[in-house]
Formats: sequence, structure tokens, C-alpha cells
Amino acid sequence: MTFTMKRVAAASKRQLYEELAVQASAMLEGEKDPVANAANLASLIWHILPDLNWAGFYFLKDGGLVVGPFQGKPACVRIALGQGVCGVAAEKCESVIVPNVHEFAGHIFCDSASNSEIVVPLLDGGKVLGVLDLDSPTLARFDDADRAGLELIAHIWVKSL
Ligand code: SME
Repeated sequence: MTFTMKRVAAASKRQLYEELAVQASAMLEGEKDPVANAANLASLIWHILPDLNWAGFYFLKDGGLVVGPFQGKPACVRIALGQGVCGVAAEKCESVIVPNVHEFAGHIFCDSASNSEIVVPLLDGGKVLGVLDLDSPTLARFDDADRAGLELIAHIWVKSL
């Protein structure tokens, strides 16, 4: 029973990300401005994905991450590579899922409501341009389906440039 319900939940999550990807591609069509496209993507993610308290971008500038367009409470502006979840994802060029941010050494708190987090890198070939960061008040909110779905959204943003 539990297994069946989990499969249904996973299938709906995939459908949600398919819908998000279709809307994201349509929205970015014909526009190359990185900030405009990140701003609209942050808004789309915020309105389509449930259970978030922060969703947005950090861009790599002068060797560090600087906050970009987002939805949610004001965030820390600069994050060094290797620092926090964002800095680790950017440095390693790979997605990081944190089920419980209180157990992640070096986690940077921007909103005390955050309990779990996912960060996916914005990759242009092998080059990292920044990260896409989502926070949730729910523990273990993000799984592999979120990672796959958000990596596609990150790819759609990079392709739009
Ligand atoms: N928690 C992040 C910092 C950014 S905020 O969540 C918006 C981190 O540890 O890198």
C-alpha cells in the first residue's frame, strides 16, 4: 500500500516537472537576458512547486556567488565557493540535496523557516555559471525526482542565454 502510494506521488511529481519544463521553455523562448529569464523562472518555480520558502538564483561573479533573482525572504548576498550548500554545489559542479539543513555542516541560514534544501548547478558545458537554490520548511522535501526536474530547468535557463 505504502509502496503504491509512493509510486503515485513520484509519478505526479514527474508530471509536475514536465509541466514546469514546458512552461519554462515557452516563457524563455526568444529572450536571452540572463537576469530577466532567471527572474521569470524563479517566479514560475515559486508558483508551480509546492512547499517552498525560498527559490532563486546565485550567479558566479569574480570567483564567488552573488544572489540573483529570487522569491522568498531577503537572502545573504555573497557566498564563497565551498561555503554553504550553494558554495559546495558550485565548487563540485553537482547537485546537492540536504534533507535536514540543521545537520549540514556550514549551512548558511537565510530564513529560519528552512528545514531542507536542494541546490543544482547552472552548467554551460563544464563551466559553472551559478546555482539554482530551493528551500523548504519540510524536512526531506527534495528527492531524486526534484534533482532531475530542477537540473532540466537549470539547463533550460543556460540554453536561453
Ligand atoms: N542555505 C544556503 C544559502 C542561501 S539561502 O538558502 C537563500 C546555503 O547554505 O548555501
